[in-house]
Amino acid sequence: MSLSYSEAAGKLMVALDYSSAEQAKTLIRELEGIPCYMKVGMQLFYAAGADFVKELKASGYKVFLDLKLHDIPNTVKGGANSITRLGVDMFNVHAAGGKSMMASAMEGVLEALDNHSAARPLLIGVTQLTSTDQETMNREIGIPGSVESAVLSYASLTKEAGLDGVVASPLEVPAIKAHCGKDFITVTPGIRPAGSSRGDQSRTLTPAEAVRSGTDYMVIGRPITGAAVPREAAEQIIGEMMEA
Ligand code: C5P
Repeated sequence: MSLSYSEAAGKLMVALDYSSAEQAKTLIRELEGIPCYMKVGMQLFYAAGADFVKELKASGYKVFLDLKLHDIPNTVKGGANSITRLGVDMFNVHAAGGKSMMASAMEGVLEALDNHSAARPLLIGVTQLTSTDQETMNREIGIPGSVESAVLSYASLTKEAGLDGVVASPLEVPAIKAHCGKDFITVTPGIRPAGSSRGDQSRTLTPAEAVRSGTDYMVIGRPITGAAVPREAAEQIIGEMMEA
């Protein structure tokens, strides 16, 4: 399977991990014309808020709002309702919040749309963070066994709750697809082009390896935002994805 430029770029979600709208806009200008997704996480959202998200949507970008909701079901339902009203294309909740919390998030989405589900955002469950290794998971978080088995059990739970897919490491994609079906969406951070620093990520693959794993979307932050010339870094990643 080889990808066209726009197919490859459409799988790329650039993590706008900045502390102000101005900094994020500088990167967005540098990447202008690349048909990628923009990912707004907690750092930028808590600084620049809903107005920034609406502006991104108005400029035509697909937006993944990565706020990883995790609270009691009723609160998450309300949060999901408010997020849906922002018009984002994808957002997420922690699978560790349980099935009823995840199902409530979907109720909040549908409520915001008056049950017109056609244009609803994709709702994704976060499994184990890609910065977590097995020792941390076993000893600190208290989940026994391998990371892959924990991820698969979270993925099944997410599917049972009626969500669209999961965030996981690209290493876990083949097992997730085998377990939950190929249409169950995988969003994978923990991508590191050959030669770039892993930073705090533990479970990583290169962009080409991630494409071969069958992932639907890959979230990439620092290898682009921290590059000397971000546009070149993004184009190189897209090129690598096309050749995979
Ligand atoms: O800079 P880097 O490429 O590591 O950025 C990865 C992005 O993906 C960050 O914005 C991080 O918050 C996000 N993310 C993650 N692991 C998850 C979910 C989201 O790394 N499980």
